[in-house]
Amino acid sequence: MIQKGEEILINSIAKRVKDKLVNAESGHDWLHIERVWKNAILILESGIESNHLIVQLAALLHDIADSKFHHGNENIGPQTANAILNEFEVEEETKDEVVKIIENISYKGGFNENAYRSPELDIVRDADRLDAIGAIGIARAFAYGGFKNRRLYDPEHQPVTFQNKEEYKNNEGPTINHFYEKLFKLKDLMATEKGKELARERDEFMRTFVDQFYHEIQ
Ligand code: ADP
Ligand code: NI
Repeated sequence: MIQKGEEILINSIAKRVKDKLVNAESGHDWLHIERVWKNAILILESGIESNHLIVQLAALLHDIADSKFHHGNENIGPQTANAILNEFEVEEETKDEVVKIIENISYKGGFNENAYRSPELDIVRDADRLDAIGAIGIARAFAYGGFKNRRLYDPEHQPVTFQNKEEYKNNEGPTINHFYEKLFKLKDLMATEKGKELARERDEFMRTFVDQFYHEIQ
């Protein structure tokens, strides 16, 4: 349960994050954070034993500075989150746990999986992944592809299986490939029961979309 003082802290940090991300790339902006925050609360409400304050703070700060938009610098996210937490009165233990979640949340081709596990990380990661699939996931993938000047699809460039994290990160393939390279895999990577339940419908919708996509271009 969240106490009054914690609620004030969460809302103050939410405002801080909103001010910083309001004009970010549309798939990683404040609205993404707000959806992930709501997803995380939905999963929390399904009754998982966990620290609610840590989950909500990590959801709010998980994309505060993404390496994808900072020349691949993977320290920038955890560092920025830590700096923001330092602007508020947050217990050392809570801060450490939030930063650890942010260090470990990213997909990076699935090569990071299980490097660190906690119920709080499972919840925030599922909440973030839910926002990568379904109708909103489709919109975000093409928004990101447009931002990066990628093709929608390319008959000369089929989806590939990446052998390591570097290959995944450096790939510049067309956006439709991202569905095979990441998005279709997420449903089975959900860690929480609620996450699995919510992922099912979104995954189905995404597959219908991709089937129709190929139907129209063939
Ligand atoms: P990752 O560790 O894969 O970069 P993110 O959670 O930051 O994970 O990715 C968030 C979202 O950004 C993806 O779910 C997708 O919507 C978009 N995205 C990332 N990489 C690509 C890509 N190569 N093509 C299209 N969308 C992408
Ligand atoms: Ni995210």
